[in-house]
Amino acid sequence: MKHLIAPSILAADFGNLQRDLEMVNHSVADWFHVDIMDGVFVPNISFGFPVLAAVNRYAKKPLDIHLMIVDPDRYIKQFTDAGAANISVHYEACTHLHRTVQHIKELGCKAGVAVNPHTPIAHLSDIIEDVDLVCLMSVNPGFGGQKFIESTYRRIKELRFLAQERNPSLLIEIDGGVNHHNALSLVEAGADVLVAGNTVFSAKDQEEAIRLLKNLSPFTKLV
Ligand code: DX5
Ligand code: ZN
Repeated sequence: MKHLIAPSILAADFGNLQRDLEMVNHSVADWFHVDIMDGVFVPNISFGFPVLAAVNRYAKKPLDIHLMIVDPDRYIKQFTDAGAANISVHYEACTHLHRTVQHIKELGCKAGVAVNPHTPIAHLSDIIEDVDLVCLMSVNPGFGGQKFIESTYRRIKELRFLAQERNPSLLIEIDGGVNHHNALSLVEAGADVLVAGNTVFSAKDQEEAIRLLKNLSPFTKLV
């Protein structure tokens, strides 16, 4: 399978949100990555349901919702009603992760678990068969535009090894600090989905930035 690209709208221009959403619609991107932050699980607040409704109105590609919130169970139904295709909850925020994952799937969404950079991959061992996606954080969650953490490469390989027998179709998503220099190495290490915020939305030619992430070659690094 060719890897997928999920531009993170956290880095979009919210004064021109419709324009930026149309740009992604028109591009070779696969998903919209939507970061929800509550100011408790992470030290930042992003946006909530009114903005999500606007995103859902214009977005023509699946919404990949990344919940950086405590007690996500309280809101799963609202996010599925708001148009989510995938919902990822944080391992560190869920006391009853298995129940939360089942709940997401019962509501017709793909279920993901996101893990902070310090959380051992081995802790996913007893949930790996139940999820469609693991979102490996390659920065500490909370902000866009942070520096990529290099241990991510090793973590991708560990996760791929863990999943190879028990969930071979698991999607490994990398979130944070993805750019034109590390994208090819991430895919070579086993990543299936690359989230990119600033690399896309700070680019002069945003559609071209997405195209370069999608059609990776050794020359991409020279951008
Ligand atoms: C970080 C978010 C990321 C962020 C990525 O907490 O989960 O999705 O928007 O932004 P960049 O690609 O700029 O690091
Ligand atoms: Zn995210």
